[in-house]
Amino acid sequence: MSCINEQSYLALCTLLSEQIALSLPADKAYLAEARLQNLARLHTRGDINALIEKASTVACNALRTELVEAMAINETYFFRDPMFSESLRDVMLPALLERRKKQKTLRIWSAACSTGQEPYSVAMLLEEHFPQLKDWDIQIIASDFSRTALDKARTGSYGLNEMNRGLPARSMARHFEQNGLEWQIKPTLRARVHFQQINLVREWPHGFPTFDIILLRNVLLYFSLEDRQQLLAKIRKQTAADGYLLLGATESLEKSAGFVPAVAGSHRPFYQPSLKV
Ligand SMILES: C[S@@+](CC[C@H](N)C(=O)[O-])C[C@H]1O[C@@H](n2cnc3c(N)ncnc32)[C@H](O)[C@@H]1O
Repeated sequence: MSCINEQSYLALCTLLSEQIALSLPADKAYLAEARLQNLARLHTRGDINALIEKASTVACNALRTELVEAMAINETYFFRDPMFSESLRDVMLPALLERRKKQKTLRIWSAACSTGQEPYSVAMLLEEHFPQLKDWDIQIIASDFSRTALDKARTGSYGLNEMNRGLPARSMARHFEQNGLEWQIKPTLRARVHFQQINLVREWPHGFPTFDIILLRNVLLYFSLEDRQQLLAKIRKQTAADGYLLLGATESLEKSAGFVPAVAGSHRPFYQPSLKV
């Protein structure tokens, strides 16, 4: 297996930044070597530098997609961060239930959903804690740029390691059925989540609605400041004026992002659009 040289690593960083706004630090060449081994074996006899060169040529669209997907960081798990459930269950959803009680609609977008644990956690939480929403029109849209991640998400099927990360036993018993060595979300709950391929730094679908809650968790941290700012401006337009934006536990927004903390003085990473932009 070849080592990645400096020129190829630079080309890879440029490609990832252009395609998905992933900003790879200079010292992560070893990561590229580990993640691209299999692809290089398949396409360029193990030569990673040749793989990157080939994937960068205009004609090699499919290979480029495979390479970008192989480099994406898909880490996720059920009910990630205790603040996730707490903020949704105790603050955002009760407030929105009150504000939307006439129209009885709720729109939620998991904007970088990886293999689906995040949107399915939202669907489970709604079912477990808000039975009064049964006759509401609830839309949970989940998107990612990665087709591989979305293919898995749509199956709603997870192995033992994934089931053991974050999922309470009572949720497992209630919402999953065992299927060989995997556990699959029951069809009614699976049908609540609509998966869609969206690259956050490309054009979004026409007529994409505004959302009451947008989950943009653990993705902004891989973006450059400029890409973050551009994305947040788009996200703000997609957030209902009285809606919420939820980030990952270690993420926060700069003041200029067009959002303010939803609970003043709170360290929970959720925000509302500010009145002034
Ligand atoms: C670390 S995972 C976070 C998953 C989930 N939100 C969570 O917090 O557990 C980051 C996800 O963002 C996706 N992603 C990265 N850049 C993206 C882009 N430009 N457009 C859409 N999805 C992107 C990756 O494919 C990956 O699935």
